[in-house]
Amino acid sequence: MGARPEPVCETMDDGRPGRERPASVAPPEGFAADANATDALRGEFADWPDCWAAAGDLLDWESAYDDVLDADGERATWFAGGRLNAAANCVDRHVEAGRKNRAAIKWEGKRGETRTYTYQDLHREVNAFAAALRELGVEEDDVVTLYLPMVPELPIAMLACARIGAVHSVVFAGFSKDALATRLEQTGSSLLVTCDGYYRRGTAYDLKSKADNAALAVPQSVQQVVVDRLGNGRALDGDHAYDRLVDEHAGADVEPVPRDAEDALFVIHTSGTTGEPTAVRHATGGYLAHVAWTSETVLDLSHEDTHWCSADVGWITGHSYIVYGPLALGATTVMYEGAPDHPERNRIWEIVERNAVDVFYTAPTAIHSFMKWGAEYPEKHDLSSLRLLGTVGEPIDETAWWWYYEHIGRGECPIVDTWWQTETGGILLSTLPGVDEMRPGAAGPPIPGVEADVVGARGDPVDPGESGMLAVTRPWPGMADSLRENATREGWAYDTGDTATVDDAGYIRLLGRRGDLLNVAGRRLGTAEVESAIVGVEGVAEAAVVGGSGEAGTSLYAYVSPRKNVSATDPLRERVRDAVADAIGRFAAPDVVVFTPDLPKTRSGKLMRRYLERITNGDDIEDTSALRNPEIVGELESIVEDVS
Ligand code: WT7
Repeated sequence: MGARPEPVCETMDDGRPGRERPASVAPPEGFAADANATDALRGEFADWPDCWAAAGDLLDWESAYDDVLDADGERATWFAGGRLNAAANCVDRHVEAGRKNRAAIKWEGKRGETRTYTYQDLHREVNAFAAALRELGVEEDDVVTLYLPMVPELPIAMLACARIGAVHSVVFAGFSKDALATRLEQTGSSLLVTCDGYYRRGTAYDLKSKADNAALAVPQSVQQVVVDRLGNGRALDGDHAYDRLVDEHAGADVEPVPRDAEDALFVIHTSGTTGEPTAVRHATGGYLAHVAWTSETVLDLSHEDTHWCSADVGWITGHSYIVYGPLALGATTVMYEGAPDHPERNRIWEIVERNAVDVFYTAPTAIHSFMKWGAEYPEKHDLSSLRLLGTVGEPIDETAWWWYYEHIGRGECPIVDTWWQTETGGILLSTLPGVDEMRPGAAGPPIPGVEADVVGARGDPVDPGESGMLAVTRPWPGMADSLRENATREGWAYDTGDTATVDDAGYIRLLGRRGDLLNVAGRRLGTAEVESAIVGVEGVAEAAVVGGSGEAGTSLYAYVSPRKNVSATDPLRERVRDAVADAIGRFAAPDVVVFTPDLPKTRSGKLMRRYLERITNGDDIEDTSALRNPEIVGELESIVEDVS
């Protein structure tokens, strides 16, 4: 296993010696002339929060809001008094604006099949499914759980919920039945939209039995709507077939329900600092305004563009930048069901070429795979439609940045390195493409309308170059419901849990998460939730998980100490991996399981995760005096050396 960090910029992927790379890159010429963002944006946004009025203006409101931000009470309230419907904003108004036959969703299936939904098609299908949801008894504010892979029925179901004012809770299809059950129980949701199964690398996987088992495990009774993805007409004892429901309600016209700006649009679960996942609730007005505005200014989208965000709709990135942001602007959004290298390693570039994608938004972990496979794959395709590239999810190292810039962007596309979180709803830190210079490896300054600082232990801003915690110091419209409390008070700041540095130009460089949260291949995991699954395995005494940075991005290392008289065997290693797969999902299973007689601890018995991180990444540990068991450090260093 290659777990050591790659030397930066010494060699390029093709073996040529690396060139000196400049630390900053001017926006490529030609982009700025037609960019949505202009220099003025950096200047005219002094009047926070009024600057966010421009975001509100991107939406159609049933009734106008009174204030952009109502900061009089204890809670920050965005667009108070305004009423709107998210589905009407993402679908109806584009049909009415004469763009009914423009593609809204271009779907690329796993087995090479394609489906295009125009805005008119989307309107028809969303209305039919909204009518069906009503018939099934779904009322305004009810939570509908969507446990679906990357099929068009997923955004359709999201928009159908939004149309009738129901709140969707999308659960990533890679989650296990236990993880689904926890989420169903937390929200009390009694309607589950799922499918029979899905294809992964050409093989059909069962999703329905996970849905069934989860539904049985929760106290409430759960009705199911089942999408027929595998086409094998599996019997549906007592469930509702999606296709039949949509057929029965074909032609239905469901009046979009006006929602208060502060009413929930959806909930999504994320890993918190405790073992339990946390439900994050996003409000209709602020969230939609935020994602529409950042799609316009940061992703440079308009209704003429084709956008491809390669995330899964099951995560916040997909909610904001596959579904709500691009559709609010009337753009075409590409949705791909498959794996990036199946059946061939050029699949991604073939899709970019076939759909003439203008803006491509992906994660550093994917870029690392593209680099490993080699430039020959993108070189086989005409990528000249690409105008802008984006990354999100984890810090991008300079080597990957330059590879993306040169091999995918031909040195002509700006790259936006966008920092945000499930809780922030949308992008908060990024350069504005065509306006700001880019500094590879740094996300950039806060976007207009956002204020953030890198702060030390006392909450004061650190000096340039010093590391601290990233704090957002003023409310923003996409903020999750739970962050609104007290956000109007002087001195309020949202602690993001990320460590960072800031340079003399105000560009923020992210370093990683604080120890209780991990970011593995762009997915957030709580150390506590993974560890509690591992210690549940018979024969395991203790466990600690940390992230290790390797060629392919961050991988998950589990340090496991077996109980007395239990031997560290491969079957035990498999049981550890399976336990995490059962509790959370296969994607969260540790990449490396290191057996150890002991974990590094302080005299008071506190686990020193920091030391494990250093050991994992091959960094030296000079001072072990804080440890009760300093000898374990050397021992672990040699074990890790062997497994790497
Ligand atoms: C965490 C949030 C936002 C959608 C994807 C993940 C990390 C996100 C960047 C970036 C460095 C980044 C942070 C953040 N992160 N974007 N551009 N550079 N780190 O959403 O699961 O809520 O995770 O992802 O650590 O806190 P999430």
